[in-house]
Amino acid sequence: MRKNIVAANWKMNLDRVQAISLVDEIISNISIKPSTQVILAPSYLYLYKVSKKCNDIENIFVAAQNCSSEDNGAFTGEVSVNMIKSCNADYVIIGHSERRDKFNESNNELEIKVKKALDTGLKVIFCCGESLEQRNQEVHFKWIENQISESLFTLSKKQIRNVVIAYEPIWAIGTGVTATAKQAQEMHFFIREILLARYDKDISDNISILYGGSCNPTNARELFSQQDIDGGLVGGASLSADNFLAITNSF
Ligand code: PGA
Repeated sequence: MRKNIVAANWKMNLDRVQAISLVDEIISNISIKPSTQVILAPSYLYLYKVSKKCNDIENIFVAAQNCSSEDNGAFTGEVSVNMIKSCNADYVIIGHSERRDKFNESNNELEIKVKKALDTGLKVIFCCGESLEQRNQEVHFKWIENQISESLFTLSKKQIRNVVIAYEPIWAIGTGVTATAKQAQEMHFFIREILLARYDKDISDNISILYGGSCNPTNARELFSQQDIDGGLVGGASLSADNFLAITNSF
């Protein structure tokens, strides 16, 4: 049975004191069902501290928001998968639309990052999503298929099992506009179909696929009740413990 997952993407928000106070508030009030995983993705700077705090709590994990496609060396300002692993992180988010758009990350570079992360023993939250223009032109299914196949489909069956996919339509991220449950379900079903075609039913049935894009306590329950939606990758609403906890309880 695949896991329900709610992941908090704090992006470039919160100073150190604010981040620690948010994690304290979350961990002292959270009650996680055994079938659910909660993942917190703070800035790299707080990764170790947040992971130490979450260490003893069952079903709560820590993710980096990005990683380098290089192992080490003269890449000033970059952070390698080994560094992330050594901070006790469990996951890394790869291919967020903000990285693709603002930092020109290509499907090929993301493929390298995914492999490096998995080789290091990190799990991956791999993001994909189309623009509004692409949806209006009805090329969104093809676009998502390309993003997934070019970055993930050279993975073995064993490797792909450690990947969670997050479908995040760009037009819904940080805009307050959410995909309808029907639109999201339709794309999640499509993603499961392409996983089935490339791998097998076991893999297609067992990979968790999260929805992201203005997910909040009001819309989470309806989204998460869809057959192929296994939870959410939450940005803005994850910066409030009350909102985030409400979303984690929306299954
Ligand atoms: P949002 O961000 O919830 O603020 O729309 C989601 C994301 O970018 O992961």
